[in-house]
Amino acid sequence: MSATGKSAALTPPDVLARKGGVPLVCLTAYTTPIARLVDPHCDIVLVGDSVGMVLHGLPSTLGVTLDMMILHGQAVRRGVERALLVVDLPFGSYEESPAQAFHSAARVMRETGSAAVKLEGGESMAETIGFLTRRGIPVMAHIGLTPQAVNTFGGYKVQGRGTGGAAIERDAAAVAAAGAFAVVLEKVPDALARRITAQTPIPTIGIGASPACDGQVLVVDDMLGMFSDFRPKFVKRYAELADDAGAAIAAYAEDVRQRRFPGDDHVFADATPASQKVPDA
Ligand code: KIV
Repeated sequence: MSATGKSAALTPPDVLARKGGVPLVCLTAYTTPIARLVDPHCDIVLVGDSVGMVLHGLPSTLGVTLDMMILHGQAVRRGVERALLVVDLPFGSYEESPAQAFHSAARVMRETGSAAVKLEGGESMAETIGFLTRRGIPVMAHIGLTPQAVNTFGGYKVQGRGTGGAAIERDAAAVAAAGAFAVVLEKVPDALARRITAQTPIPTIGIGASPACDGQVLVVDDMLGMFSDFRPKFVKRYAELADDAGAAIAAYAEDVRQRRFPGDDHVFADATPASQKVPDA
């Protein structure tokens, strides 16, 4: 608790210290109201570049820009008090050189107030992760299926099956040695995720990976059922909000057409009632 009585926000070292402990809870958020809903329940709130597909209707995350990440990062910052806020570095903003990555990450942290950034890549990004962490930028790594490399993979396919697992084990070791405080493991076989979790000194955060990971992350809109037609195997739906919203919107449309809305409760009288002390809302 802080002097204000509010719980202090989690830090990257707090997350690192959770290795092998109570599983870390992580969800994405892209807006202030959703950030306010997830913050009390999450250890990490991730402003993922999935925002491009989820909120902007893009076909992949490749079209997401640094400015988009900063705008959504600022919105989420206003709704997060206790979780660690992590913002994704989008495609093209960090791969060219460690200096480019530093410039982008410093802008994200300065303009959003996030305490860390996430970037995709294993061994190939180890030099950059070391460069950032030695300069005060905590990094969450992301290996396995890295969606920004969807064209290289030829689709959103499970990575690391069979002999392919060794390269992902090397990726995990490399990002940990470079100083990442946690690593997202996306869409890899359960057995591989278990091995990596056992071998790696930093927390593994699984998505389509294994219950043995040190934590789990989901795209919040997926677990809330915001898309009727998107049902990946690794997502458990905890609500069916698309169905609920569709029914509510249909009911509203019918009420308007039948002149049932607005009703007496929703319209204003000519004179303010004497009992009403506050102005009309
Ligand atoms: O962009 C994103 O939302 C992510 C998570 C799914 C890990 O990277």
